[in-house]
Amino acid sequence: MRVATMGRFSMPVMCFAVLCLWTAVAEAEYVKYKDPKQPLSVRIRDLLGRMTLEEKIGQMTQIERKDASRDVMKKYFIGSVLSGGGSVPAPKATAETWMNMVNDLQKGALSTRLGIPMIYGIDAVHGHNNVYKATIFPHNVGLGVTRDPALLKRIGAATALEIRATGIQYAFAPCIAVCRDPRWGRCYESYSEDHKIVQAMTEIIPGLQGDPTATRKGVPFVAGKTKVAACAKHFVGDGGTVKGIDENNTVINFNGLLSIHMPAYLDSIQKGVATVMVSYSSWNGKKMHANRDLVTGFLKNKLKFRGFVISDWQGIDRITDPPHANYSYSVQAGVLAGIDMVMLPENFTDFVDDLTFQAKNNIIPMSRIDDAVKRILRVKFIMGLFENPMADLSLANQLGSQEHRELAREAVRKSLVLLKNGKSTNKPLLPLPKKAPKILVAGSHADNLGDQCGGWTIEWQGLQGNDLTVGTTILTAVKKTVDPSTQVIYMENPDTNFVKSNKFSYAIVVVGETPYTEFFGDSLNLTIPEPGPSTIKNVCGAVKCVVVIISGRPVVVEPYVAQMDALVAAWLPGTEGQGVTDVLFGDYGFTGKLAHTWFKSVDQLPMNVGDPHYDPLFPFGFGLTTKPRREV
Ligand code: GLC
Repeated sequence: MRVATMGRFSMPVMCFAVLCLWTAVAEAEYVKYKDPKQPLSVRIRDLLGRMTLEEKIGQMTQIERKDASRDVMKKYFIGSVLSGGGSVPAPKATAETWMNMVNDLQKGALSTRLGIPMIYGIDAVHGHNNVYKATIFPHNVGLGVTRDPALLKRIGAATALEIRATGIQYAFAPCIAVCRDPRWGRCYESYSEDHKIVQAMTEIIPGLQGDPTATRKGVPFVAGKTKVAACAKHFVGDGGTVKGIDENNTVINFNGLLSIHMPAYLDSIQKGVATVMVSYSSWNGKKMHANRDLVTGFLKNKLKFRGFVISDWQGIDRITDPPHANYSYSVQAGVLAGIDMVMLPENFTDFVDDLTFQAKNNIIPMSRIDDAVKRILRVKFIMGLFENPMADLSLANQLGSQEHRELAREAVRKSLVLLKNGKSTNKPLLPLPKKAPKILVAGSHADNLGDQCGGWTIEWQGLQGNDLTVGTTILTAVKKTVDPSTQVIYMENPDTNFVKSNKFSYAIVVVGETPYTEFFGDSLNLTIPEPGPSTIKNVCGAVKCVVVIISGRPVVVEPYVAQMDALVAAWLPGTEGQGVTDVLFGDYGFTGKLAHTWFKSVDQLPMNVGDPHYDPLFPFGFGLTTKPRREV
């Protein structure tokens, strides 16, 4: 029997050699951390064990989009990128443009030695609000009024789809601040002054991330390609600062901190929140970004939070006063406090260099670095980022979908609070008749999409006017809702003679605050900017009027209430203005109840439900109701 040969070797020998080579190659390519069938702990341990110090520090580094490129991702092993408010790849960028940008940066991350995917974060705090044509939901100040956790879960799910439509996998939301003083510029980001409402509204987290109770995977939990990692923020006590001064000092004893500002973090962790962002503020004079007892001792060790902790924007820089005064101290204090990922919108190489030095000189122990990286890897593994790092256009049609806009419209309806209805109880003005000869719509905010969306919309500080994105103003909604025979006249700030001479059946006056974000919104007087008050006086002094207040919080209305026939708090409703007219005209009833106390005067502040001296204009929980017209 002749044996086939190849040169000096028999065929069986060659086959064996090829098999060995193939096995060796296969084994060389097989690494545990890349195998989704391996237990999570094995994957983390295997990958961590392969990482250099530079690769570990890269995972702790989150840079801003403006500094990011494929080369930078590769050179510095960058683990995360963010868009700050208004940081977009192009004006009115499409979902595809967003996705291509994210995928390009991801290719840079994947081209590194270990191919660890990066995670891209953005402030999607009332819908995917940086993105043109996204559905803009009511801000949290209105959502707390709904007292509808199931609605919040649906909003979270819709928002996650719109975020993923753009290729992004991480939202810096929800803000679970408990706003204890409406003078705080971020009070509209808070669901309520009552922590129990804030706790209930954490149901948005399983909406954003998926529901951990539906699986046996434990927490943190992110379901996959239609969900995003969420971020409970800002830990802890951000809404309790003195006089509501943003980023300032929360003076309260430990029991008060635990009973008011901490409970929603327990709910968030139980619901699987993947990340927690630290607050700029201080607790009794100690900066939260340097507070190891609370960040590590309490959040990580006591509450067993196993996701990762992220700093705020230049949060470690602001540990010192002035900021960046002693950067090495800031890096040391922040990382040793328990911050795992550092948000570095500027000078990220300073952080990389400084942390590298402190780690190599054991000023910051490698155990702390490893804990941070383990947490970051845990989130990336559990959300399937290693298996699905690249985005595609399969969800592009979710951005601003009609279904999501209908959901937002429902949320607007449920967020409205009817504070007054008729100058005498037996003559309510609302619901308004759709059929009338001629009606007046007045006020600076009646035809202004930017005003009704508020801050964190397209730009960090929001915008005014109607060119910022796609939506429906309240004026447009009125015109769509009334009978075709009803003449609708719009004038922003009419004088009394104009109003009287036109003999309107009634008037809708829409006034309020102009957009603001963070410290730009801090206010000690909480007055409605002119010409709002003048418009109220001119119109309501001449014709039956309903006043709709667009604001991020309770504002000064006491001096004008007597002139009004009806008063509605609409907060910051977002793009779907039709939700306001749905209720004004009786297609739906008013159901909302105040989630923030409405003060008489700012001299009373801070004043919250349960306080011994409680004398509000409209108390927490107040809200008149109306029946839908079809039921009348
Ligand atoms: C901001 C805010 C924070 C936001 C972050 C990124 O300063 O404090 O809520 O998530 O920076 O934009």
